[in-house]
Amino acid sequence: MVSMEITQKAKRLREQIEHHNYRYYMLDTPEISDAEYDKLFDELIALEQKYPELAALDSPTQRVGAPPLAKFKTVRHTVPMLSLNKVTTEQEFYDFTSRINEILSDKSGRIEFAADLKFDGLAVELVYDNGILITGSTRGDGTTGENITTNLRTISTIPLRLKGDDFPDKLEVRGEVIMFKSSFEKLNKKRLANGKDVFANPRNAAAGSVRQLDSKITASRPLHFFAYGIGEMSGKSITTHYESMLHLKNLGFQVSEYLKLLNTPDDVANYFKSISELRTRLDYDIDGIVIKVNNLSQQQEIGELSRSPRWAIAWKFPPVQATTIIEKIEAQVGRTGILTPVAYLKPVRVGGTTVSRASLHNKNELERKNIGIGDTVLIQRAGDVIPQVVKVMQKGNRVNETGASQIDEIFKKCPACGSSTEKIEGEVAIRCPNPYCSAQLVERISHFASREAMDIDGLGYKTAEMLVKNKLVADIAGLYKMPDYKDEILKLEHTGEKWFANLVAALENSKSRPLENIIYALGIRNVGEHLASVLANTFGSITNLIKQTKDKLTEINEIGPIVADSIIAYFRDERNLEILKKLKKYGVVFPEEKPSSNAGSLNGKTFVLTGTLDKFARSEAKKMIEKIGGRVTSSVSSKTDYVIAGVEPGSKYDKAIKLGIAVLNEAEFEKIFENISKS
Ligand code: IVH
Repeated sequence: MVSMEITQKAKRLREQIEHHNYRYYMLDTPEISDAEYDKLFDELIALEQKYPELAALDSPTQRVGAPPLAKFKTVRHTVPMLSLNKVTTEQEFYDFTSRINEILSDKSGRIEFAADLKFDGLAVELVYDNGILITGSTRGDGTTGENITTNLRTISTIPLRLKGDDFPDKLEVRGEVIMFKSSFEKLNKKRLANGKDVFANPRNAAAGSVRQLDSKITASRPLHFFAYGIGEMSGKSITTHYESMLHLKNLGFQVSEYLKLLNTPDDVANYFKSISELRTRLDYDIDGIVIKVNNLSQQQEIGELSRSPRWAIAWKFPPVQATTIIEKIEAQVGRTGILTPVAYLKPVRVGGTTVSRASLHNKNELERKNIGIGDTVLIQRAGDVIPQVVKVMQKGNRVNETGASQIDEIFKKCPACGSSTEKIEGEVAIRCPNPYCSAQLVERISHFASREAMDIDGLGYKTAEMLVKNKLVADIAGLYKMPDYKDEILKLEHTGEKWFANLVAALENSKSRPLENIIYALGIRNVGEHLASVLANTFGSITNLIKQTKDKLTEINEIGPIVADSIIAYFRDERNLEILKKLKKYGVVFPEEKPSSNAGSLNGKTFVLTGTLDKFARSEAKKMIEKIGGRVTSSVSSKTDYVIAGVEPGSKYDKAIKLGIAVLNEAEFEKIFENISKS
């Protein structure tokens, strides 16, 4: 028998942990540190392991996953999970409103609509018995779904126990499991690096993660739940959809912050427009809006068809998918020699633009999707993301069944210099090993000249290509020798005296760039803009950076062993050292600053900017902060150290106040900056 004392202790720990979960995940205002949280959690695990009788379905320890299942059981939904009819035009939407107006006996014409986002994830149902999550299931065919309870328990935004004590004995909550776009990108990047297949989109990633027989895998995936409806609910009398959503919010669920009550079809049309604009700025995919008649008794009067209600409709965005034919597949050589297959498509309109090329990621992806030249494929464009090939719809005339020989051919030799390619052990990437490869050089030059790097105006990809093709530059340093080749260059197409004079002026200007831009411009593998600025701030000069060991580099927060290796490899390569020497010789100034670690107190601190600053542009303020060792992020969280508020600060200011984060005005910020810069 477990003593009363122990039982109470476990109960208290669970309540504390759930409370902190809620503060952290739902409100984004944690009260304790991650370490303190982990301590509570470990304590509970130890207790439950020692006294297995204590195990409980609503224990937060359930969130880490359970042993794998052989297969899912099925669950019958008490109330069928219906799907939605769709409209795609304003006219069709108005037709929907006229239809329901005709059905309703009260012809006064006042129907209130509740409009919401149409989340693009996986629909699930959660059943709560006396406030405790007992079953979670997929929609399945609408009548029966799969029992995925242990998986759903691992999702932090799904309450294991309803909040407060005003809950019905029985409650069925419906909603969507999604993966944030940012988490999706990170997950895919990691998978790509580990030679695993990538997910085509966040929805597939979410669905794939939730339908794992091993819930530990689900637990490792960053998933999120948005509630949008109620199935069955005992007791409580609620009269509108909106009210039911407020109720769910009080019970601890996350409901959409864009849920809105609207009075006329015109209001709905405007809502659709504003959500269409919002779409790319959201960190999760939506594929339209959902409009529901708000009043529940009106819903009942309007009724439902066999598969979908008549009182709700989905208004979908225009499709971002289309089918087209792959005309050819070519490999493209990047700055560091990696070959990326690119599909050249028969041009097709998708989501408002014409698409004629799509990235195919790498050879593994091509093989996995069994894509061949001449195939009819489904392509998709999501927001401003590069178009992707989703799948083959119909195979073209292939040399053999898989088209593998065609694909192998593409990767055998570098398309630019003809060198035999190499696959590095343990990496997915296939690369061209030739350091003098013209395609790599073109990429390196256009990277070097880009705005964020040396900012050589007028030296874009085309010019770089032309210079390389005509053997007028052999490395990035050679750019500064261009004035000596004026005659040869002016003989080329699309050049001219004025163009040349501008280019020479831009080259001259670029000789005095800040250190961080120079580091970025060098094109060291894995060193992007942000890391370049971290390196510049930490080490203060190239001479100092070159001296660093792997241990020293990995001491920096943002730098792991892989990145450290690429930095070291770069500076170990004699050819690169030669280029650095030449750059110096040709007049590029390498700033020698004091490393900002002397700046001390602001090293590693996180800043958020809000409102308009008087004296500085945001980009300037950002540079200043980075110069004194700080970092600028875009949103306020408990991890933010300072918020700098200009004129008319936005919601970030309110959030900072709520979280008790130090807020500086412009003058205070300037003062701090000056003091630190002087020290
Ligand atoms: S309401 C009877 N609201 O859309 C009403 N559904 O085609 C049924 N969905 O399977 C659903 N966001 O996965 C509703 N705000 C939202 C939604 C939503 C996404 C999905 C849901 C459902 C599908 C219906």
